[in-house]
Amino acid sequence: MKTIFSGIQPSGTLTIGNYIGAMRQFIELQNDYQCYFCIVDQHAITVPQDPQTLRKNIRSLAALYLAVGIDPDKATLFIQSEVPAHAQAAWMLQCISYIGELERMTQFKDKSAGKEAVSAGLLTYPPLMAADILLYNTDLVPVGEDQKQHLELTRDLAERFNKKYREIFTIPEIQIPKVGARIMSLQDPKKKMSKSDPNQKGYISLLDEPKQIMKKIKSAVTDSDGIVKYDKENKPGISNLLSIYSTFSNQSISEIEKQYEGKGYGQFKADLAELIIEELQPIQEKYKELINSPELDRILDEGAEKANMVASKMVKKMEAAMGLGRKRR
Ligand code: TYM
Repeated sequence: MKTIFSGIQPSGTLTIGNYIGAMRQFIELQNDYQCYFCIVDQHAITVPQDPQTLRKNIRSLAALYLAVGIDPDKATLFIQSEVPAHAQAAWMLQCISYIGELERMTQFKDKSAGKEAVSAGLLTYPPLMAADILLYNTDLVPVGEDQKQHLELTRDLAERFNKKYREIFTIPEIQIPKVGARIMSLQDPKKKMSKSDPNQKGYISLLDEPKQIMKKIKSAVTDSDGIVKYDKENKPGISNLLSIYSTFSNQSISEIEKQYEGKGYGQFKADLAELIIEELQPIQEKYKELINSPELDRILDEGAEKANMVASKMVKKMEAAMGLGRKRR
């Protein structure tokens, strides 16, 4: 069976961008693949985090993974920092990464722009992500479009290691959804929707109340021509809302355009908000059941144990290939 790995940072409550770009894919894939889904808390600390909030966000993300439909009997769900192999492998991969290629990553450029104190971890973020993926002999990585460059670097690092030392890594493929690979901010449709956006009106969180969802969709930035039509260049706001509508309704964009011909934005926005509210309601109910349950800890303990078994073996292989430590007799 082929293997899937993907991760999400516990850096705030997940948005519908994360849900559409990543999580919805995970739910389908878990039926046909061996899946590892990770809460990448070590990636989160590449920028400043409040310790108590981080702990809360980790648990919240675990509950959300399950609430959207990740089944612990099918997929392995775990926390990155509970599997030491990730940091160990990341160090080895950092040592074959070049500073130049890390500095060229757009995420690094965006997150470090204009900042005086930039952590070294922000620069070495991608080799840690490569470690996540390569430790599990991953064939496929389902992510949103913003992770494409990191995936390309992961493939480069795997090939470099295989060539320089020994062929131990599978070269992973990226899988990006056809619609919704890049959901944009509701307030600035030229910018990606992000869970760390200080302007809460820019995103819908999976835990937003129905009233908030309606309000945020109604105040989403559009244009003044009143025609529900997909045109990313000239109508980025409406195009973004159409992508969201399409994924939540499982209708094609052209079907939706037809449905709203001559109807204006008011009705379209109200219907879209209803669609989102309806889809999120059962997720929010499940979340409330899970967040304080000991069951959640049991699942995470088991996940870490399973992940550890696989990942620690790969670390040993990496160390042997690089000549670290001693040969065991
Ligand atoms: P993160 O936590 O920023 O986002 C989690 C997932 O959500 C996708 N995503 C989006 N998709 C569509 N539209 C958006 N506006 C949007 N925002 C986020 C992301 O592409 C991602 O799939 N570096 C990763 C986490 C990571 C990882 C990994 C992923 C660490 N190790 C190994 C895959 C494999 C990140 O910061 O994702």
